[in-house]
Amino acid sequence: MVGAQTPVLDEQYLVVEARRKRELVERVDIEVLLDRFLSLEDRFAPLANVEDVARFALAVGPNALGNYKTTFTIKLTAFPKPPISMEMQANPNPELDEKLPTEIDSIEAQRNPYSWYKEMRETNPIRYDENRKRWDVFRYDDVERILTNHETFISSKISDIDPVGAFGARVFGDTDLPDHQRQRGAVDDFFRPGKLRDFRPELRTKVDKLLDQVLETGSAIDVANELSTPITVWSITEILGVPSDHTDQLTELVTEVLDTTEAEPMTITVDGKTFGPGGHDVMEAYFKYLLDKRARDPKDGVISRIAQADDLSEEEQYWMTIFLYSAGVETSAKSIDIALWTFAEEDVYSQLRDGKINQKLAFEESLRYRTALQSMAGRSPVEDVEINGTIIPEGDQICLWVGSANRDERKFDDPDEFDPKRKPNPHISFGKGLHYCLGAPLALLEGDIVIEAITDRVKSIECAVEFDELQPGFNPRIYGFDEVPMHFYT
Ligand code: HEM
Repeated sequence: MVGAQTPVLDEQYLVVEARRKRELVERVDIEVLLDRFLSLEDRFAPLANVEDVARFALAVGPNALGNYKTTFTIKLTAFPKPPISMEMQANPNPELDEKLPTEIDSIEAQRNPYSWYKEMRETNPIRYDENRKRWDVFRYDDVERILTNHETFISSKISDIDPVGAFGARVFGDTDLPDHQRQRGAVDDFFRPGKLRDFRPELRTKVDKLLDQVLETGSAIDVANELSTPITVWSITEILGVPSDHTDQLTELVTEVLDTTEAEPMTITVDGKTFGPGGHDVMEAYFKYLLDKRARDPKDGVISRIAQADDLSEEEQYWMTIFLYSAGVETSAKSIDIALWTFAEEDVYSQLRDGKINQKLAFEESLRYRTALQSMAGRSPVEDVEINGTIIPEGDQICLWVGSANRDERKFDDPDEFDPKRKPNPHISFGKGLHYCLGAPLALLEGDIVIEAITDRVKSIECAVEFDELQPGFNPRIYGFDEVPMHFYT
């Protein structure tokens, strides 16, 4: 354990940094009124404004977080600032978020959790897992009810189990109305299908270039590292408006960060400035730099929009950017990998090529069949709620098993069959209701273009290893594999 530091008066900012192992878990920069620090009541109380955040930081710094292998660095200021809308996050038990239920905590079960889901839908559709301190919900109707009932099942609850969510300020998926609308409304027009249509030709050119490189070296391809990750990283950087001369370095960094929890320390140098060395830290420093630059010198793209939005706090601007960047890469890349793998495994590729199977329907079916986000945590009821005879107490955490809902026999015929012509296909891989995935149209476009480009150019595809040889990625909440070796024959 690295001990927490005693708060010291220094400089002009309150800076709170919490680190777990080498990684920055959270960092908060706030200017606050000095005299607020003199009263330290309401420890761990729900945080409503910047003063509470400051009190909380002082209260937990030397105590709770220090006990959880987290260091705290705190600097204070004497200069008042208007309150900003954010909540300090300090997860006393971050591992809970990442833990899988013991029943599927093996590599085999991560590859194929579906028989366990089926058993749970039958015998225990809503259960409390003492180990992970949360409720698990497995049936389609129950998952859908919770997703579409955002007034009862809120997303911004700070509980004693999971007071944090993933980010340093509550953004998008961790917010409720009206904050949610304020944040999402600032950027959602960039992700609408109409707007994305203009992006289509550029994306196709990029995919063709990558295919040129890959096909030149023979039939073997690692779809994950040579195709899907570069494509999704490139797409989101374009839409965010990352300058093109920064993209390559950022892509390399993100690929490294996604690849392992212990990413090699790296640096990136842009505009004559070097960031790093580090993994996540470099990404964070880079995006802070870019937001600052775009605040002064706006260009096209989401980052400029965010940087110019007066009704977003600096912390929100920063974490919204990070959220969009991370949400936009891994799930989409894994979905492309899984689709191509499943087309080969199920021997439907030639029918896709010949147009006998509609490629959009086939992609949607692969999103249902092996969805990239098998479960999502973060909802909690504002009052005791009964679901199918089980009472979920107010404030408890709920984990929604989307991967199970998508295989619910009460909703889908032959749910364990991969049916590329399935229609309708009401899978909930992108969620539903208020928090429906903002990037769904982009993810669908990426899948569509990759399949279109490959079927235009590649005669046949096949899996190069057995399914049982695929290694699940390090993030247990994302379904997908580190490497996806296939053969593409032209
Ligand atoms: C196939 C790929 C993807 C899958 C399976 C996926 C899945 C999801 C799911 C299930 C949610 C709902 C979370 C909840 O209700 O708590 C969500 C939300 C979100 N996704 Fe995606 N996503 C994908 C791609 C993307 C992309 C490409 C972006 C790029 C920007 C993105 C950005 C977001 C954002 C910002 C939210 C929060 C929306 C809100 O709270 O209003 N996602 N995603």
